[in-house]
Amino acid sequence: MTNSSSSSVVPRHVAIVMDGNGRWASKRFMPRVVGHKHGVDALVRTVRACADRGIEYLTVFAFSSENWKRPNDEVSGLMSLVLDTVAKHLAGLAEEGVRILIVGDRSAVSDKVRSAWERAEQATRHNARITLSVAFNYGGRWDVMQACRQALAAGLAPEQLTEEQLGRYMALSHAPDPDLFIRTGGEVRISNFLLWQVAYSELFFTECLWPDFGEAELDAALDDFRRRDRRFGGVQALQAQPAPLTAA
Ligand code: IPE
Ligand code: IPE
Ligand code: MG
Repeated sequence: MTNSSSSSVVPRHVAIVMDGNGRWASKRFMPRVVGHKHGVDALVRTVRACADRGIEYLTVFAFSSENWKRPNDEVSGLMSLVLDTVAKHLAGLAEEGVRILIVGDRSAVSDKVRSAWERAEQATRHNARITLSVAFNYGGRWDVMQACRQALAAGLAPEQLTEEQLGRYMALSHAPDPDLFIRTGGEVRISNFLLWQVAYSELFFTECLWPDFGEAELDAALDDFRRRDRRFGGVQALQAQPAPLTAA
């Protein structure tokens, strides 16, 4: 498939590393957690903008397996923010047809956070306008490992284990692979986000700090995506053939 042949191509699945909250706050001489709060507003804006544009799946990196290394007050600020966000935004998102799913290792989060996630999933389980997968205590390596563990526990023999089979145990088995992977905040790295699933995603990096992200930045990424030529290891799709030159 080549995107350049169709200017109306909208990715089915967009994945975003929402990075730059801390720097956004530091630039304003404010505590980092203020940046995270503004990051939640950017997330709600982006969910709406994606739904309006016909994107079916949005997956966001909210807390990585490695983010526990941060100072205690930042980690606890982020956990409280989960509770505040569910309290403040769940009803609105549910009303707008957003299905919320949490992907990541839930075993390490508090009962309060876990039950807030369960509430969000329950309240939105019949929605179908857009699926928002929130990667929380998520790591790409954890995901591959937990999928292998599940496959082994299911008694799969080595020869039965195919890419497709393993994919069924991955945390994002409910979604196609991301077509477009966006990272805000200027860093050009994956930081252990979706390792298995980004095999053929188009990557887009922007200096924009996450709290500043909105419709204009999303549209810039979507415009760029439209111009990409996705080959999936094949050859470039045939363009319209020029008329043959004929002797005068
Ligand atoms: C991303 O923003 C949000 C989380 C990791 C929770 P950061 O907090 O990493 O912001 P910067 O990269 O330090 O600016
Ligand atoms: C990735 O950002 C994780 C999230 C956005 C949740 P980080 O800020 O943790 O990544 P590094 O440390 O810059 O690689
Ligand atoms: Mg960061």
